[in-house]
Amino acid sequence: MRLVRLAAVLAACTAPLAALAAGGHDALSCSGCHSIHAAKGELIFAVEANKSATTRANQPVSGSSALCLACHKDGGMATSISSHMSHPYGLDHVNAKVAKVPGELMRDGRFECLGCHDPHPSNPYHKYLRVDTAKGQKMEQFCAVCHPNKADDATASAKVALFTSMDETGNRVLGPADGAAPARKAVKAPAKASKLPAKKAKKAAKAAKAPAAAAEPAAAPAAQPAQ
Ligand code: HEC
Ligand code: HEC
Ligand code: HEC
Ligand code: HEC
Repeated sequence: MRLVRLAAVLAACTAPLAALAAGGHDALSCSGCHSIHAAKGELIFAVEANKSATTRANQPVSGSSALCLACHKDGGMATSISSHMSHPYGLDHVNAKVAKVPGELMRDGRFECLGCHDPHPSNPYHKYLRVDTAKGQKMEQFCAVCHPNKADDATASAKVALFTSMDETGNRVLGPADGAAPARKAVKAPAKASKLPAKKAKKAAKAAKAPAAAAEPAAAPAAQPAQ
């Protein structure tokens, strides 16, 4: 099974054997997803977007999710993901009553697979999730990123490091991290990304009616708005 997969990966891209490594996407190499001179579309993607995948509302999946689904489909080279059995994705708007998605996790106003996953091989976390879930054992911290009102106070107000590979100035963290950062370099907690945790802290403070915690959001206006 694994051999079949590897063969498929190798057939689909010209990744040299030396590039094969442990993680699912490491084995693809960069050129499994990006094509330098023969791209099939946006993000110089090497594979054609899946045009037959549908959302739960039976609309065609557009945006970057259709790129993921080029491989993650029935009969594709990777684990098939079906919208009908999944958490929503490929949405052109988010119902604010259901979820509060940090702006940095949206793409062109859309909620995609990328809201939850950063697919680059640099992502050290379980299933390329944005948050360290201790290999899937502490999922509530992840869910609380977008559903803070569903989580207990401690989880909702925790400062969580969101992984990103999309900033080549060296920072791999969205939002100020209290704990260990996933970046190789020491991470200067950027003021610009403090919006989300500050908001969460405010909410937690409100919920808990704990005036002490209000010192936190008071510092927030000094922060730059998120990009
Ligand atoms: C599994 C598919 C996949 C693999 C493998 C992959 N990428 Fe990406 N890459 C993406 C996606 C999807 C995005 C858009 C991410 C986003 O918007 O958060 C992206 C974005 C990028 C961007 C930014 C493009 C922009 O417009 O800002 C660069 C640069 C990049 N990738 C380089 C690489 C390099 C270098 C490698 C190998 C180390 C690599 N990618 C491996 C899927 C992949
Ligand atoms: C070029 C094909 C290709 C594309 C495009 C692609 N993947 Fe993958 N992905 C793979 C392969 C191959 C694996 C490893 C086999 C498997 O787990 O199915 C994998 C594995 C994964 C895993 C499981 C990793 C693990 O540790 O078990 C996740 C999560 C994932 N992909 C998410 C994504 C997301 C999100 C996108 C779009 C941004 C994407 N993939 C785009 C081929 C692809
Ligand atoms: C709401 C967040 C969220 C969204 C949106 C999302 N995923 Fe995931 N995905 C997860 C979580 C959480 C897991 C890990 C589940 C676990 O390990 O229990 C996961 C696991 C996976 C896996 C590994 C499955 C396996 O059996 O190992 C793949 C592949 C994957 N996602 C691809 C995708 C693709 C492709 C999309 C978009 C079409 C997507 N995901 C959208 C949260 C999300
Ligand atoms: C990055 C943001 C994000 C994360 C992380 C996230 N969600 Fe969501 N969630 C959303 C969005 C967006 C929606 C759809 C909102 C809408 O209907 O417009 C949603 C909807 C839902 C729904 C309603 C589904 C339905 O059928 O209507 C449930 C239940 C849910 N999420 C549970 C979870 C759980 C459990 C986790 C953690 C494993 C999680 N979410 C993680 C963004 C997220």
